[in-house]
Amino acid sequence: MTNKKYRRPELFLICLHAGIGIAALAAVQAAEPEMSPELRQSHRELMELLSPEPVINTGSDGVLTQLTAENSQIISDGREVYHVHCAACHGAGLQGQPNWEQPNETGMLPAPPHDGSGHTWHHADDQLFEIVKYGAATAMSDPGYRSMMPAFKDVLSDKDINAVLVFIRSTWSDEHKQWQQGANDAQSGREWWREKGDQ
Ligand code: HEC
Repeated sequence: MTNKKYRRPELFLICLHAGIGIAALAAVQAAEPEMSPELRQSHRELMELLSPEPVINTGSDGVLTQLTAENSQIISDGREVYHVHCAACHGAGLQGQPNWEQPNETGMLPAPPHDGSGHTWHHADDQLFEIVKYGAATAMSDPGYRSMMPAFKDVLSDKDINAVLVFIRSTWSDEHKQWQQGANDAQSGREWWREKGDQ
C-alpha cells in the first residue's frame, strides 16, 4: 500500500503553510494587548490591507464584548445597579444632566442622558462596556481625556455591567436598537464583510 502523504506532497505543504500562518496569527494576536495604541492602530490597518477576512475592532482591551439578550430578570438586576451606581449623575429617568453637550466650569462634560435623546445608542456594545468598565479615557484610548465618568472595574462585576447596559438598552425604541445593532455589526467586521459583497 502506498503512503498517501508522499503521493500528495502538495497537500502536506498546504497544511504546513496553514499551520505556520495560524501560529503567526496567534502570536500576533497574543502580542496585541502589549502594543501602544498607535502601534495597535497601524497594525490593524495593515491587517485590513493584507487580510481577506473582516478585521474585528476589539476596542482598547483586545476583547470584543457583546451584550446578552434581555429578559425580565436581567432587566430588573440592571435597573437596581443603575439606581445604586448611575442614577445620581445620569438621572433616575435616564434624562442626564442639564446642558450635557457643553463642558461645565471644570472643563469636563456633564453626564449625558441614556434614553433616546442622548447618544448612548450610537455606540456598539463593546464600546459601552469599555466606557463603564474602564472609564471614558481608556475606552477612547486617550489617556489625557478628562472625564467625570468613573471606571467601575473595581466596583461592578462584568455580569453587573452587562445587566446595567441591557437595562439601558431595554428603554430604547426599536429604531434606536436597530441603529445600535448596525454599530455592533460594524465593530465585529460584519459590515465590512457585506461591503465587500461576500455575504
Ligand atoms: C460621577 C458621575 C457619573 C456616574 C456615577 C456615572 N457616570 Fe456615566 N458618564 C458620566 C459623564 C460625565 C459622562 C460623559 C463622559 C465624557 O466625559 O465624555 C458619562 C458617560 C457615560 C457613557 C457614555 C455615553 C455616551 O453617549 O457617550 C456611558 C455608557 C455611561 N456613562 C454609563 C454609566 C453607567 C452604566 C453608570 C453606572 C454604572 C455610570 N455611567 C455612572 C458621569 C457619570
